[in-house]
Amino acid sequence: MDHRIPVDGGELHCTVRGDGPPVLFIHGFPLDGTLWHPTAERLADAHRCIMPDLRGHGRSSVTESMTIARYADDLVQVLDALAVRAPVVVVGLSMGGVIAFDLFRRHRPRLRALGIVDARANPEPPEGVARRHALADLVLREGSRAAAEAMIGPLFAPGVAPELRRAWYDRMAATPPAGVAAAARALAAREDSRPTLARIECPTLVVAGEQDAITPVDLMREIHGQIRGSRFALIPAAGHLPPVEQPDRFAEALLEFLRSLPDP
Ligand code: MLT
Repeated sequence: MDHRIPVDGGELHCTVRGDGPPVLFIHGFPLDGTLWHPTAERLADAHRCIMPDLRGHGRSSVTESMTIARYADDLVQVLDALAVRAPVVVVGLSMGGVIAFDLFRRHRPRLRALGIVDARANPEPPEGVARRHALADLVLREGSRAAAEAMIGPLFAPGVAPELRRAWYDRMAATPPAGVAAAARALAAREDSRPTLARIECPTLVVAGEQDAITPVDLMREIHGQIRGSRFALIPAAGHLPPVEQPDRFAEALLEFLRSLPDP
């Protein structure tokens, strides 16, 4: 079912599928909630899958200036609007993982467990800050195709089906330029989540695409090593987007984790 959910100064599009303990899925930059549809297909008989488009992405409204904290606060408003009061499993990919770390820091009571997929904990290094601001400027001048061009190379494992690559190129190119620019600048200004890792005490699954060129496996293993008691899942033949590149393997790893959780 599709929802339009009012949030502070905007409106988010959110797809919800299935029934059972809720899982909030947070997509990456500059993608949209459809990233999780193949996962929801495989989980929906036992879980309520909540898949918002972040502000400025997909079918959500655009706000020109965003922060990671504001994306996180939007998601709390989504949970409130859907009357989800009990703690939820939060699964975030890349920028979605950065937002999940922020949810942990500032909205801990809303979280039951965490899934961190191909995401960074470190703040943006200076050269990255400059690159992201340059991309934001370029996209505002020339449109989101420029971001799609920049991302499409490293996004997928080399063997991915060309149709999948094409579909995500088109989706990134369709993201509103102001939404892409706002997200690029929010990522550039993101907080250092490394000190957060040692504080995470909820059940956590760390997932790495074996051939991810954006957040390499070693980086994800490091994050796993710093979150006490976390589980680690390596998804073979996947790049930065395991949920669409290897939907069966990804869903299987996530389901195994979900089954391991104590009852809500
Ligand atoms: C993402 O998927 O969110 C991006 O790859 C984040 C990034 O550009 O580092």
